[in-house]
Amino acid sequence: MLEEALKHPIFKKIGKLADDLGLECYVIGGYVRDYLLNRTFKNDIDIVTLGNAIDLAESLSKELDGAPKVSVFKNFGTAMLKYDDLEIEFVGARKESYSSDSRKPYVTDGTLEDDQNRRDFTINAMAICLNSERYGVFVDPFGGQQHLDQKLLITPLEPELTFSDDPLRMLRAIRFAAQLNFEIDPKTLEAIRTQRKRLEIVSSERIVIELNKILLTEKPSVGLGLLEKTQLLELILPELSALKGIEEIEGMTHKDNFWHTLEVVDNLAAESDDLWLRWAALLHDIGKAPTKRFDEKSGFTFHGHEFVGSKMVYRLFKRLKLPLNESMKFVQKMVLMSSRPIVISEQFVTDSAVRRLIFDAGDHLDNLMLLCEADITTKNPNKQRRYKDNFKRVRAKVVEVEERDRIRNFQPPVDGDEIMRIFNLKPGKEIGILKEAIKEAILEGIIANDYHEAKSFMLGKAETMGLKPV
Ligand code: CTP
Repeated sequence: MLEEALKHPIFKKIGKLADDLGLECYVIGGYVRDYLLNRTFKNDIDIVTLGNAIDLAESLSKELDGAPKVSVFKNFGTAMLKYDDLEIEFVGARKESYSSDSRKPYVTDGTLEDDQNRRDFTINAMAICLNSERYGVFVDPFGGQQHLDQKLLITPLEPELTFSDDPLRMLRAIRFAAQLNFEIDPKTLEAIRTQRKRLEIVSSERIVIELNKILLTEKPSVGLGLLEKTQLLELILPELSALKGIEEIEGMTHKDNFWHTLEVVDNLAAESDDLWLRWAALLHDIGKAPTKRFDEKSGFTFHGHEFVGSKMVYRLFKRLKLPLNESMKFVQKMVLMSSRPIVISEQFVTDSAVRRLIFDAGDHLDNLMLLCEADITTKNPNKQRRYKDNFKRVRAKVVEVEERDRIRNFQPPVDGDEIMRIFNLKPGKEIGILKEAIKEAILEGIIANDYHEAKSFMLGKAETMGLKPV
């Protein structure tokens, strides 16, 4: 009995209405799983009925304050309503069958067990009855609870069948393994590898939802490592698989940039929950595969990989139908700038280099510093300490320079309107040249970020261009 899982008053209500309609009815799936895992209360509730689920959803809506709208998906026999912060989905129990000459399933009404059988994993196939007579009865025909205890993801049916029913489930397996810290049963894992090409029929939008969830786990390398192991990675993110491997020429090697990347993502995840910063960590080295060269003197080089990588971000986002908006631009910027603080930290940290860093990174400087610190994956403790100390110096310098020069969110102290007024100019290229000269002079430290200094510098520069104040 699992009555204590049904504390929310909505369950009793649904059960009574199902009694009135003469329908058997259960809460099933993620809600039951998360309850048994003591995870936080799940607001998405899946209800399965033996019979017409849409009728039950509509009669529930009539009982609730404000009669929330029921969204009906007739073709699937499902309905959904939102109430308070709950999202309740109703589905009629189904049995999926396959005719021998076609892989197309035909869906028919089924028993509860048929329905549980055709769900993705045994831990997602547990149900609790809501009808008054059997209120709280736990129905777990495939050992879901035992698998929860064993921390095991396993399909109720032969995994090939479960995955061909919906290939997205291969990614869900990896995502749940990563989120819950579960193992994937070896047969199920092997089926993911053999069935991986079936993912082709899954929309990018659904794939991205799972990828994002993997990236948002505590240790994203778990899920990303499983993607690599099952070879799904080369289908979804070939740019990352291309980073795998260590080459050796004349005794010179380079690090395996794929496993390095996973370490960077984990390091970053320990410091930030920001999804797009985690994407940036994942993609920060993708330009290394196409730019890799071997030079007899310096060994392997990846010149310009940041620029090439930032261009690749756009193509990758477009292909995966990730948003081509500010978030993408942010990821591009992080990839493009990913070596800047490192380069600065390796040299004597000059004020002008720091001013340029602050100017170019703008509001994203803190994120950029986090990314660069996460990029330190050397196992040599001396180097590790040295790199970290270098970053501390850069950070200290950033604070000092910023306090003095206020470069972040830089606004030119003398703006274009004033320049046009002083010389009675119409908009044109001279104004751009003068503004750029002021900015450069400030960043180089020739003048302070100050109105009077900027104005007199600008007048001097204008004179060399033959401009006279009116
Ligand atoms: N389900 C399935 N195959 C899928 C998606 C879902 O069998 N491809 C079933 C599972 O029984 C799952 C339930 O539908 O528990 C609800 O799916 P969903 O809301 O997507 O996932 P949850 O399991 O609730 O978990 P989460 O919210 O973390 O995605």
